[in-house]
Amino acid sequence: MTVTLEKSVEDFITTPHKLFIDGQWVDAASGKTFATPNPATGQTLAHVAEADAEDIDRAVRAARRAFEQGPWSRMTASERGRIIWRIGDLILEHAEELAQLESLDNGKPVAVARAADVPLAADLFHYMAGWATKIEGNTISLSVPYMPGAAFHAYTLREPVGVVGQIIPWNFPLLMAAWKLGPALATGNVVILKPAEQTPLSALRLAELIAEAGMPDGVVNVLPGYGETAGAALAAHDGVDKVAFTGSTEVGKLIVHAAAGNLKKVTLELGGKSPNIVFDDADPDIAIQGAANAIFFNHGQCCVAGSRLFVQRDRFDEVVEGVANIARGIRLGPGMEPDTQMGPLVSDEQLRRVTGYLDSGRAEGVQTLAGGNRHGERGYFVQPTVLTDVRPEMKVVREEIFGPVVVASPFSDLDEIAAEANATDYGLGAGIWTRDISKAHALAGKIRAGTVWINCYNVFDAALPFGGYKQSGWGREMGHQALDAYTEVKSVCTQLQT
Ligand code: NAI
Ligand code: MG
Repeated sequence: MTVTLEKSVEDFITTPHKLFIDGQWVDAASGKTFATPNPATGQTLAHVAEADAEDIDRAVRAARRAFEQGPWSRMTASERGRIIWRIGDLILEHAEELAQLESLDNGKPVAVARAADVPLAADLFHYMAGWATKIEGNTISLSVPYMPGAAFHAYTLREPVGVVGQIIPWNFPLLMAAWKLGPALATGNVVILKPAEQTPLSALRLAELIAEAGMPDGVVNVLPGYGETAGAALAAHDGVDKVAFTGSTEVGKLIVHAAAGNLKKVTLELGGKSPNIVFDDADPDIAIQGAANAIFFNHGQCCVAGSRLFVQRDRFDEVVEGVANIARGIRLGPGMEPDTQMGPLVSDEQLRRVTGYLDSGRAEGVQTLAGGNRHGERGYFVQPTVLTDVRPEMKVVREEIFGPVVVASPFSDLDEIAAEANATDYGLGAGIWTRDISKAHALAGKIRAGTVWINCYNVFDAALPFGGYKQSGWGREMGHQALDAYTEVKSVCTQLQT
């Protein structure tokens, strides 16, 4: 049995899709298109115009015009906020349609898209809409030592950075678009958004909803295409004032190099290898379920997946066996089947990457407590996997796998685990499971990561800043911290004649 496809979804996937530039749907300059497959079957789902450098250039020019001459920059903050709010409303009005599109294109269970991706995306726009009217500067008292007796009136303004390029990944296609667009628009910027080539559909539908919400032409442009072509052109374009990227650390470094040409501002949300730490005084049922959710949510395709599980020695066997037991019971299937608990990975490339790690683990002598292989022969499914007998130098321990694969090891005490948790180039998230609040907060203070969850995991909220220490990124998304990265501070200083 499958979920009944909404008529609007059927129509949407059977229509060839274009690029959204300056409020118009246009073909790529090259005339090229690419196919986006259904990861549950490997078959083509839809055809989409393929943007390249020339299209990016057109979009950048359109965005610049919208920024400098269009109605967007003349609107009141309240008017801008109401458009952003309306985007959130339209997402909720089309929740089922968007959830189905996301499930078909990405592979995730439609129930997950309904419960998490879509409402979180709507909430992000609603949250950011409120900020549009609350972007404030300061008044500042000056003491200028070489101008005794002078009087000043000095203040700061927070102004939009300008034309922003946003490059997003495929793991939460709609939600990542929301995380990026929300703060950029609330602060009055204009955007060229490049969705991931694996999952362009929900961003294209979102572009239609953004237009319907009353967004002026050219403020939001959506250009699907490949990373090495469209993405690279956007990151390098001299007409772009800021680039915001979510994806691999490897490409994050390429973005930094590409941005050097005009020294555009850069924010990055990159990979992770997040420690999830279970103390022996944790509630075992809650910790076991929490550790399983931390790694298996979204098939492990989460930058913040709890992929390194550490359990205090006395409880190691019990907790790890509990997680393995959950892993063995997870029902894999197409995202559009209502009883599916885990769908396929997003692409053939990701399937090969993850099974490559499983091979490497076996070659290095890990023990496989659950899973360990591809599931079935059709689509890109991988079994939920628990690996033990791991050593710190192993690839499966050091590198981000981005699949449903957790490595588990025992630890003895707080100091040891703090050091081990931090023994990684990444610093995105961490989990701590204990009933001892002093221990929990002491360890939270020692962990070098942007988010620490205590007795929970994967809790996201539009108000809670998210981002990475170390090689997990630059800057923060969500919360009011996200607004900083989308504004320039201007100091205005007036000498008063007294
Ligand atoms: P990726 O970093 O190549 O892709 C992410 C986005 O960057 C996509 O929109 C892609 O088109 C674009 N891109 C790729 N190369 C680019 C370039 N040279 N210039 C500008 N944009 C470019 O990630 P990929 O290849 O899909 O996955 C590889 C690994 O990256 C995963 O296994 C995972 O470890 C990590 N990853 C992390 C994500 C996160 O949320 N932090 C999301 C996706 C992947
Ligand atoms: Mg790549």
